[in-house]
Amino acid sequence: MNNDIKEILISKEELENKIKDLGKRITEDYKGKDLVLICVLKGAVMFMAELSKYIEVPLNMDFMAISSYGSSTKSSGVVKIIKDLDSSIEGKDVLIVEDIIDTGLTLNYLINNLKSRGVKSLKICTLLDKPDRRKVEVKVDYKGFTVPDEFVVGFGLDYNEKYRNLPHICVLKEEVYK
Ligand code: XMP
Ligand code: MG
Repeated sequence: MNNDIKEILISKEELENKIKDLGKRITEDYKGKDLVLICVLKGAVMFMAELSKYIEVPLNMDFMAISSYGSSTKSSGVVKIIKDLDSSIEGKDVLIVEDIIDTGLTLNYLINNLKSRGVKSLKICTLLDKPDRRKVEVKVDYKGFTVPDEFVVGFGLDYNEKYRNLPHICVLKEEVYK
């Protein structure tokens, strides 16, 4: 594999099995409901694509891109919407699909923003959870894996836009990002 990669943390097979389980649980919970999956670009693209194959209820997919306002304001959790949803989510059962929750600030902003649009329900599904660095508490409804406080890439997650295509979740060597 690549020189910048320290190790494989979660293999392709482990990812597949866990995502199947999550899909089954979501299928049970959303029977007869008007489900909208919201993918937070770009990191959650692979996760949502894979997850949606195992959700056996009719659903809509929508995409949102957000970015932090810059390092000085990042800790405040003020984020900028780069691409908003295509459709209204008023009255819908909405599931946010995220790649990783770190400080929780981004998701906290997103939850408040989407709630204000009059959703019927709003739940969170994240592939990875990095609880060590949490600054604001976020209630996670569906979680894949808890990861240690290391920089992870692969399966959609990037370092400087690279490594999203790796099929496993990998740990980046510290010297690469420090
Ligand atoms: P919060 O607001 O929870 O932001 O701190 C979560 C976002 O931060 C990025 N992030 C990572 N991206 N490897 C990545 O590729 C990581 O280990 C990592 N930790 C945080 C990511 O964009 C996530 O949506
Ligand atoms: Mg993200």
